[in-house]
Amino acid sequence: MGKKAIGIDIGGTGIKGAIVDLKEGRLASERVRYGTPEGGTPKDIADVVAQVIKDLGGASTLEVGICFPAVVQHGFTMSAANISDQWIGLDADSLFEKRLGRHVHVINDADAAGVAEVKFGAARKRKGLVILTTLGTGIGSALLYNRELVPNSELGHIEIEGVDWETKASFAAKERENLSWEQWAERLQKYYSKLEALLVPDLFIVGGGVSKEHENFLPLLKLRTEIIPATTRNSAGIIGAAALAYKNRDE
Ligand code: BGC
Repeated sequence: MGKKAIGIDIGGTGIKGAIVDLKEGRLASERVRYGTPEGGTPKDIADVVAQVIKDLGGASTLEVGICFPAVVQHGFTMSAANISDQWIGLDADSLFEKRLGRHVHVINDADAAGVAEVKFGAARKRKGLVILTTLGTGIGSALLYNRELVPNSELGHIEIEGVDWETKASFAAKERENLSWEQWAERLQKYYSKLEALLVPDLFIVGGGVSKEHENFLPLLKLRTEIIPATTRNSAGIIGAAALAYKNRDE
């Protein structure tokens, strides 16, 4: 059957899943998608995840990786940015394992995207420090050193001018405030300059849905560090979650 696992990406608006071919780094089934239930409570989300796995039928022996828009430390969700507060401090690994009756591996969504990019995308063959940022409802980050993930970096919440900068520079902020590409790029400039000064990376990768429009904003940024768009795009979370679940399958 080859090297395969199921990846599920839980977001503030949608829950997506697919079977992933881990040799090729691409989806090996159709992508199933449901809206995130109102309120985003653990029980309701677990029910949708169970439905996604059912829809992917015949995959009962595959490992399941689930990525999530929050800090995930050893299977516990420790924050909740755009979902219910009930997730804070919750043993999410156990919740999903009980509901699904199988082993699962829960990780942060940006970390999953970072793993996908290092294994199959823009950071393949790149050594040193790679920082992936996802520009979406919030700003997610993944730190990868020599292709190994350093989990839960949470660099979207760096304070600039006294504010949590994801509230100013996420793609949601651009939409909310109706910013032009130039206006948004000014905020991104402050953000990436700060990361560059604090962490001295070798490469920035920009993910999130808006990365397909990278030509509108990446050329406006002036940085010492190379900055390029992610290539796994929409499926990054699914692919990375599946890859990590497979890698950690005996844990
Ligand atoms: C959360 C991160 C998450 C990011 C993208 C942030 O608000 O704190 O954990 O990776 O949003 O979803």
